[in-house]
Amino acid sequence: MDVFKAIQDRREITKFESKPIPEVILDKVVDAGLFAPTGNNLPSKNMIVVEDRDMLNKLAETTPYMKWLKEAQAGIVVTGKPDVSKYWLQDASFACAFIWLEAVEVGLGSAFGAVYHSEDVEESKKREGYVRELINLPKEQRVVAVLGLGYPAMTPRPKKHVPREEVIFYEKFGKQSK
Ligand SMILES: Cc1cc2nc3c(=O)[nH]c(=O)nc-3n(C[C@H](O)[C@H](O)[C@H](O)COP(=O)(O)O)c2cc1C
Repeated sequence: MDVFKAIQDRREITKFESKPIPEVILDKVVDAGLFAPTGNNLPSKNMIVVEDRDMLNKLAETTPYMKWLKEAQAGIVVTGKPDVSKYWLQDASFACAFIWLEAVEVGLGSAFGAVYHSEDVEESKKREGYVRELINLPKEQRVVAVLGLGYPAMTPRPKKHVPREEVIFYEKFGKQSK
């Protein structure tokens, strides 16, 4: 599959089959996050792969918006290290995107559960603290997201994209043609 096709086909999948993910496939998906770029090439992230059913069920309670982890075959907690890089959030976000795309390539579906909350410090502390406790995450690290993975048991309805001319401009903001 070429990269653009993976980008076009990618959707959020929140229902999964009970079929396990072969280890070699899961490793490849996680490696996509490992190979994602980081600002100044600094080692500013970790990815914690969770396959234990009980643990996935507990992680599903991190926020009200990741119940799909209860059906997922695996979860990847993506963390950032502010003490290593000022770009920790971007770095972790890139890793999430690469993981999501690689999941598409290998026929898996993925859902994204936001944990870090940039505008509500207390809420972020609560969510991150919950995950931190479960996975023994060092206190300096931030929890950016938990991705759920599994073979898709749903086909999302076609997506209506924001019109191209509202998003893409040429040379100056607002100029819609070249
Ligand atoms: C920054 C960000 C935060 C998101 N947070 C959640 C979340 O907490 N729970 C969830 O189920 N989906 C979450 N999503 C997935 C989006 O809702 C989903 O990608 C969006 O509706 C577009 O659908 P698509 O992925 O099928 O194109 C998040 C996506 C992004 C990029």
